[in-house]
Amino acid sequence: MHLPDYKEARSRTKKEYRRIDFKQDKTISNKYRGMKYFLKTYGCQMNEHDSENIEALLVNLGFTKVLDYNLADLVLLNTCSIRENAHNKAFGMLGRLKHLKGERPELIIGLCGCMAQEASVVQEILNDYKFVNFVFGTHNLYQLPNILDKAIKENKQQIEVFSREGDLVEGLPVIRANKYKAFVNIIYGCDKFCTYCIVPYTRGRERSRRREDIINEVKLLIEDGYQEVTLLGQNVNAYGKDLYDNYNLGDLLEEIALLNIPRIRFMTSHPWDFTDKMIDVIGKYSNIMPSVHLPVQSGSSKILKLMGRRYTKESYLELFHKIKDTVPGVSISTDIIVGFPGEDEEDFRETLSLAEECKYDNAFTFIFSEREGTPACKLVDNTPPEVKEERLQRLNQVVNKYFLENNKKLEGEVLKVLVEGVSLKKNMYYGYSETNKLINFTSEKEIEAGEIVNVKIKSAKTWSLDGEIV
Ligand code: SAH
Ligand code: SF4
Ligand code: F3S
Repeated sequence: MHLPDYKEARSRTKKEYRRIDFKQDKTISNKYRGMKYFLKTYGCQMNEHDSENIEALLVNLGFTKVLDYNLADLVLLNTCSIRENAHNKAFGMLGRLKHLKGERPELIIGLCGCMAQEASVVQEILNDYKFVNFVFGTHNLYQLPNILDKAIKENKQQIEVFSREGDLVEGLPVIRANKYKAFVNIIYGCDKFCTYCIVPYTRGRERSRRREDIINEVKLLIEDGYQEVTLLGQNVNAYGKDLYDNYNLGDLLEEIALLNIPRIRFMTSHPWDFTDKMIDVIGKYSNIMPSVHLPVQSGSSKILKLMGRRYTKESYLELFHKIKDTVPGVSISTDIIVGFPGEDEEDFRETLSLAEECKYDNAFTFIFSEREGTPACKLVDNTPPEVKEERLQRLNQVVNKYFLENNKKLEGEVLKVLVEGVSLKKNMYYGYSETNKLINFTSEKEIEAGEIVNVKIKSAKTWSLDGEIV
């Protein structure tokens, strides 16, 4: 048994990461043929991509997928710790599963992902959720086949969570959720330690994949007909810093752009590490999508300092406008937290004024959620929940106004859309524009998912645009 420990997870000693190739344990391949799995993913794109690896590991063991957990022999929850509601959702599901296990004692239940890295969660499972058969963490996902096998063979709860990141494992099998758009990890972990955030504890130190591993993965995706890659990391702008003296996200983006894949995206960008070179490269290549997710979190420099974000409102705005001025037609989206401890009405108005100035194309807005073990828990928080709720609504009104206003500007324009699928209505399709806007459109001639087509925009809504193929 290995239990997670935050103190260890926090430590950032200098360490060389070994790059190792994943080796499938052939002795258990197909051992569970005929059994069915249900996998639920709660978190961010990184969590989703982990699930794509998990699916492949399970299929190698012989499992087949079902979409209804009532029909499954194995239910695995790939969890997220970012806010309390993600946490509650997973525990809610465990409650339902307890009931199901009462009816079907042979059901196997597993938990993985970021919540598995939390000592308090694992303790709760040990104490009160004895029916959970196995738990593994984000750092040892590749061990899933053996942990699961052992849990079944020995019929004993297996808790195997490493507090510290280990080797960089390459060559994990993957079953991608989409045939045309792929996630590609470029950097794992986070060293920023924003005071509210749990990710540095659940995902470990920032460590970049070797550039040749990334390039090879993208080349294979191109051979397989992929039209779009999204380079993933908690902070992609830190790419390469731990590995190379002189090779960063700008260089990587450029190298991938020259491979001629139609669309390249990347997320998330922390304003801190954004260099001029990166901005220039994004502007220079037409296959690097003009769409940047640039979380601001707050418009008050006082709150930003308490959050440990290491920029001010002014320096954020300077970067924001540099990107807007350098990358033609760029769309910028953001994340904002309201109700951080110490945020008063004046601070909140600074956030509103920033949102008015930036006129974001999209924004994910949250109420601060206390995460056990993070420094923000120790700050005094005098704002009543109903005031926080009201701030969230006021903020949403402002950001929504600009989503619509920006979308309206696109009426009459012809946009390139990567077709994702057919809608239920006749001759209706949907897909995403270069600036990542959802486009619903009609086409008399039949088109295939994965094509990039030109769509004339007829009318704009807050969250999507309607158009017609041209
Ligand atoms: N690495 C990304 C963010 C990943 S988490 C970045 O730094 O930009 C996604 C978003 O969740 C964050 O941008 C933040 O807005 C929100 N978030 C993180 N921790 C939170 C918390 N404790 N309470 C509320 N929102 C939080
Ligand atoms: Fe969390 Fe900050 Fe790291 Fe983003 S940069 S994952 S918000 S600690
Ligand atoms: Fe959640 Fe972990 Fe992602 S906490 S947001 S799944 S990195």
